[in-house]
Amino acid sequence: MDLADLVAAYTALYGEKPIKIFRAPGRVNLLGEHVDYNEGPVLPAAIDRAVYMAARANTSGMMQLFARDLGEEVSISLERLEEVQDLVGNPLPGWALYPAGVAWALKKAGMQTEGLKAVYSSDIPIGAGLSSSAAVEMVFAVAWQAFGGWPADRMTLARLCQQAENEYVGVASGLMDQFASAHGVAGHALYFDTRSLDWHAVPLPPGTVLVVADSGVRRSLTGSAYNERRAACEEAVAILSQDLPQIQSLRDVSLADFDRYRHNLPRTVDMRAEHVVTEIERVNSAVNALETDDRESFGSLMYAGHASLRDLYQVSTPELDALVEIASQIPGCSGARLTGAGFGGCTINLVEGTRSQAFIHSIKEGYLRATGNETQVYLCQASQGAGPINL
Ligand code: GLA
Repeated sequence: MDLADLVAAYTALYGEKPIKIFRAPGRVNLLGEHVDYNEGPVLPAAIDRAVYMAARANTSGMMQLFARDLGEEVSISLERLEEVQDLVGNPLPGWALYPAGVAWALKKAGMQTEGLKAVYSSDIPIGAGLSSSAAVEMVFAVAWQAFGGWPADRMTLARLCQQAENEYVGVASGLMDQFASAHGVAGHALYFDTRSLDWHAVPLPPGTVLVVADSGVRRSLTGSAYNERRAACEEAVAILSQDLPQIQSLRDVSLADFDRYRHNLPRTVDMRAEHVVTEIERVNSAVNALETDDRESFGSLMYAGHASLRDLYQVSTPELDALVEIASQIPGCSGARLTGAGFGGCTINLVEGTRSQAFIHSIKEGYLRATGNETQVYLCQASQGAGPINL
């Protein structure tokens, strides 16, 4: 991202320089997919693709935003966020719901949100499963915190951003994406227990890189399909709790108990629950594999995670399956799987750094041959979490 360019855009639009620049990264998830809303552990990493924002606080009581990538502007009163309208009474465009939702959630939690002029831009591909929306939420949260000077830890900010997305935007997502954008650690994955909210950073295998391959398929119907998956998990808990009264979520169901009582579940619900229960096991095994630098075992768990998302949770696509299949044949690739909610988007590949260029070449060629389509490939590093940038 050319930050000088972002500053110049701000200055041209508002006639003065911004006071601060903020950054909030996207994320990949290495393992633990569709587990966060089942209170299990996940293993994401923040990446070096991010939303950048140039901003200045003021006392106008409103936010003036310019989304540079869309070339669209909006002004919103911070006093009338419940109306979900701009200053002249038009419904807010979809992209503006995220910043407005963050202001709404912060205010409800008693955190001061200054008037703001802001220009922002992102190099996270949109709708590709890399959490571009969580990054937009986080960049505004850290900006308001910096301008307001109020104390709040990262987890509080992440939870308020999740609340914005759940209640203001209307997407019933879990906490993983906001958590990862807020807590990223360079060179590390983040083991995050979404029930206790405990987390720790786990080093990625030395000499490996994260390669993201974009299937080019964008998520449609994700909202409803995502919510259907959540509902199936809730149904599984309701039925299993007749035999296992102590369970609160699928997190509490051991593999042994699942095998004992799964016959009571309708077929589809059984498949969804099996994915979640086994995926939780995979995350725990994967952390051990990372801690002992056993990249082969780690990679096998990634492939197994993909197969489970494909066959049991049914959120993959033929394009994502093709990308994983192609990657698995390329030397230097330890593991590959779809990342994020699925229904399109990207795969994440753990690749030896010295072989990454050859890997990228082969996966592009293989995907073109298999599907007739180009794939965009991003070589990523695990990066630090959201915050102000010193120019
Ligand atoms: C989306 C949601 C997350 C998580 C993933 C699936 O990214 O925002 O909370 O549920 O899907 O793992």
